[in-house]
Amino acid sequence: MPSVPPDDAPALHVEKLDVTYGRALSALRSVSLDVPHGAVVALLGANGAGKTTLLRAVSGTLRLHRGAITAGGVRYGDTVLDGRDPVTAVRAGVVQVPEGRRVFAGLTVDENLRAGGLGLNRRAPAQVREARDRVLALFPRLGERTRQAAGLLSGGEQQMLAIGRALMAAPRLLLLDEPSLGLAPMMVDRIAEVVREINAGGTAVLLVEQNAGMALSLAERAHVLEVGEVRLSGDAAELARTDAVRRLYLGETADGAGGLDGRGAA
Ligand SMILES: Nc1ncnc2c1ncn2[C@@H]1O[C@H](COP(=O)(O)OP(=O)(O)O)[C@@H](O)[C@H]1O
Ligand SMILES: [Mg+2]
Repeated sequence: MPSVPPDDAPALHVEKLDVTYGRALSALRSVSLDVPHGAVVALLGANGAGKTTLLRAVSGTLRLHRGAITAGGVRYGDTVLDGRDPVTAVRAGVVQVPEGRRVFAGLTVDENLRAGGLGLNRRAPAQVREARDRVLALFPRLGERTRQAAGLLSGGEQQMLAIGRALMAAPRLLLLDEPSLGLAPMMVDRIAEVVREINAGGTAVLLVEQNAGMALSLAERAHVLEVGEVRLSGDAAELARTDAVRRLYLGETADGAGGLDGRGAA
């Protein structure tokens, strides 16, 4: 039997992943999910469900937080990512935007962006310039502020910078951890637009959100994590119609009041 053609294989393949912190705390149990090439996949769940932990397990940053994969695996294409370091993930094309928009507050916007391509070897200055031009075309507000300290940007602008810094590495899969958290509704809409634009450029996105309405409107598929386990998986539009998701994550009451962020229930 020939092996599966590469185009049909999922880009990111997470299989039966168990993660613990320290000796005792089990954060993920038998979590499986795929992100196909060029797709947007949403990962929903309440605080503490394990969303960030999953992204860390993929990006190789788990160990920095004293976490460990104790079973299962993570692959991106042919590259095994579990048990590897962040540089391996970045070189494979997988880049995480950490939660809480951790920009380097004391560095300028430009310095933050230039930090984004580090870890990639053999990048010609022209390639770095090109990546920077692409990022600034996506975020014109940052272009007007390249010499300003990142710490002086608004929350929304810092989130843009954190995303822009990740894009400097020209990822094929972007791991986005709660990009809309704490932002005003207008900024949340802008973030959604940005995710669409990034994806239109061919980059797949694994989008972690508590804003389920926003995430489900962007994603093709979605998974709901509950205390470390995948509780629901499916087509994003279908999940948005299930009672559990509508009540728990879309803020609807039992009689069906509340909105689906304009996407409609039909
Ligand atoms: N560095 C850490 N050390 C110990 N426990 C942690 C650490 N990071 C997260 N946890 C725990 O792991 C569980 C999942 O956390 P997390 O992945 O941050 O959830 P989410 O991103 O969905 O809010 C929680 O119980 C949390 O307290
Ligand atoms: Mg989190």
